[in-house]
Amino acid sequence: MATLEPQRDVPLAPLTTLELGGPARYFVRAADRETLVAAFRWASDAGQRVALIGGGSNLIVPDEGFDGLVVHVGLSEVAFEPDGTVVAGAGVPWELVVDGAVTRSLAGLECLTGIPGSTGATPIQNVGAYGQEVAEVIESVTVLDRATLAFEDRSPADCDFGYRDSLFKREPEHYVVCAVRFKLRPGGAATIRYDELQKRVAPEASLGDVRSAVLDLRRAKSMVIDPDDPNRRSAGSFFLNPVVAPADRDRIIALSVSEGWAPNAESVPQYPMPTGEAKLAAAWLIERSGIHKGLRKGAFGVSDKHALALVHHGGGTTAELLRFAEEIQSRVTDRFGINLEREPRLLL
Ligand code: EPU
Repeated sequence: MATLEPQRDVPLAPLTTLELGGPARYFVRAADRETLVAAFRWASDAGQRVALIGGGSNLIVPDEGFDGLVVHVGLSEVAFEPDGTVVAGAGVPWELVVDGAVTRSLAGLECLTGIPGSTGATPIQNVGAYGQEVAEVIESVTVLDRATLAFEDRSPADCDFGYRDSLFKREPEHYVVCAVRFKLRPGGAATIRYDELQKRVAPEASLGDVRSAVLDLRRAKSMVIDPDDPNRRSAGSFFLNPVVAPADRDRIIALSVSEGWAPNAESVPQYPMPTGEAKLAAAWLIERSGIHKGLRKGAFGVSDKHALALVHHGGGTTAELLRFAEEIQSRVTDRFGINLEREPRLLL
């Protein structure tokens, strides 16, 4: 195999949806597994750290860039089987997988339409939206072990999936997600579980109808990347929805009602988790902390369609974005006594 020759000083901002941050000292695009392994060998010989990037839609690049080798994962084979098995390389654009599934009447991904980024990112943060999570339909994940440079298949039980969480997210130095095998339901019914969706489609709606309804909902929240949308430079939800103990949920509900931020307890959005905890809506808490949709501070702002998306209006720096995010976090902490955790990954 030809020797790997990484490019030098490659700007990373254009590879991210936030369009922020500095260059990679070294850069390689790995379109196949051999190149991926060669990239890790090269970095080890050259004494360079390695960072991975995929679709760049959930990524914050520091202003100083990355002082090491950035590997852009481009593994792009995809296959759909009539029995509902779908195998997709980590670099396959996610929407292509959703589209292929819906047009072949394979149920299980129809609510996960309109999400930017690549397939490899979906198990890492257990992507979920409108009542579905990828973990529900993942059969296995093929990973490269960064220490041994061997490929292995991991079952869902070995991925330790949680709300926007997995083993791969917690141990980024350990694994590279290379491919995902999904088991979908041929001819199966669409998932119509999410409240907003139930209000929009009939109970027997087709996969295609549900997909269109989700796309409409996402567009209305500027959560579909559209070149003409002034809110387009974002990383989707900037904070996780906080998962709190029942006592904290009750305290926050009581406070919100007594302060007049909510007309009654039922109107405070909260969802029970299987653990007995409660998931609160970060967007709601942000707004009740006095931060309004459309708020603007220099080059950054809160999306005017959804309080959870921070938007880069152009010409800003990552340091400014992180400061802006910290201001929002401290407003929410001051008011509600809970910390919002950042959702997009910082490339360190
Ligand atoms: N809300 C507000 N203000 C807003 C927006 C929403 O108060 O500006 C309230 C809504 O009224 C609702 C609640 O917050 O009661 C939840 O809002 P929404 O249904 O829009 O969902 P979310 O919890 O804010 C999560 C995911 C999204 C996903 C949607 C739909 C996280 C961090 N975000 O958002 O995922 O699309 O549910 O399932 O879990 C992403 O991760 O980047 C992302 C967009």
